[in-house]
Amino acid sequence: MKYIPKIQHNRITQEAVWIKHTGNGPAILSTSALYGRKWLDILLKSGFSVTLPSDENVLTMEMIDKEISAGYSGVISLLKHNWDWDKIKYLKECGVKIISNYAVGVNNIDLKAAQQAQIQVGNTPGVLTDATSDLACGLILGCARRLGEGERLVRGGQWQGWAPDQLTGKNLRGGILGIIGAGKIGSDCALKMAAGFGMNIMYYSRTRKPDLEEKIGKISDMRVSIGLNPISVSFVTLESLLKYSDIAAIFVNLSEETHHLIGSEQLSLMKEDALLINVSRGSVIDEQALYEHLRNHGNFRAGLDVYEKEPVIFPGLSELENAFLQPHLGSANCETRENMAIIAGLNIKNYLEGMEKWPGGDLTPFVTENPPSFVPSVLFNDF
Ligand code: DGY
Repeated sequence: MKYIPKIQHNRITQEAVWIKHTGNGPAILSTSALYGRKWLDILLKSGFSVTLPSDENVLTMEMIDKEISAGYSGVISLLKHNWDWDKIKYLKECGVKIISNYAVGVNNIDLKAAQQAQIQVGNTPGVLTDATSDLACGLILGCARRLGEGERLVRGGQWQGWAPDQLTGKNLRGGILGIIGAGKIGSDCALKMAAGFGMNIMYYSRTRKPDLEEKIGKISDMRVSIGLNPISVSFVTLESLLKYSDIAAIFVNLSEETHHLIGSEQLSLMKEDALLINVSRGSVIDEQALYEHLRNHGNFRAGLDVYEKEPVIFPGLSELENAFLQPHLGSANCETRENMAIIAGLNIKNYLEGMEKWPGGDLTPFVTENPPSFVPSVLFNDF
């Protein structure tokens, strides 16, 4: 059965209908409308001139190329916009000083080129940690309990009623969840799955995380104190994690080192009926290898939110019952998308107003009524 969505969001049309808000300050091009209105008000109140396409449009790179020569100081960009060396050079020539990414990930931007061109890069970390780790938990549950298959059965009119062995899945309590990349989002997912579902945690990360280990120790004590199973945490190699985990979940940033971190060799280490979850970037997994592994191991399941060539899904992947697929929804809750928009707006405004980089780490103060007079999150220190 093919599911045809009624509303197609983020339609890319050939002709954008422009909305232009003209102030006396620097001009900003937003490549799409962002969630909510607060981000726009922040810029407009400070006198910035903001141009964006009308509601359902997202600018293509060709449209951006044409528009940018009108003279913009900053660009708010989506992940789907690819800023390679040539595009960055062109932005520089047109006078752009900052690209503010409406995402925490910046793999769509050639950072070396941006640094060389002295174009600052902003992103939105922290405010989407909870939402993305929630989605990872959702993929774990969806895969473990075969929710995609269940929904297809019901929607397809094929359900014959309750049966003892129908779509029987995996129990979570006492199992091992392997966290690949225990940064903010990975750690948050570990805590949620440990506290809520009693899963033991293994993690693989560049550095050991004493803070995560301590929190899991406390969760274990708390669980025992209310009569639930204790849980453990261990810092392991990637090989051990893949070998022993019942569920492996990927949270690493995409970089040269993590490109195809999981390929056929790594998949072959995993248990026959393991689950592989990915909410980071598609290219951390070799999709061809995963597709073949899923085809040859019916009890192995993958829960994916991200893909190598979004929005293109690897041929055949969506036909596999053991793949649970979502359309890059990690940060997609209303509050989070609005907060990301506020950070993206403040990154560009405060940077162009010459403010210093926020030394605080936690960006929560920026989504309050009185945000601090700092640039919330930009990558480069030296300009
Ligand atoms: C990000 O911010 O990098 C997320 O993937 C967007 O949902």
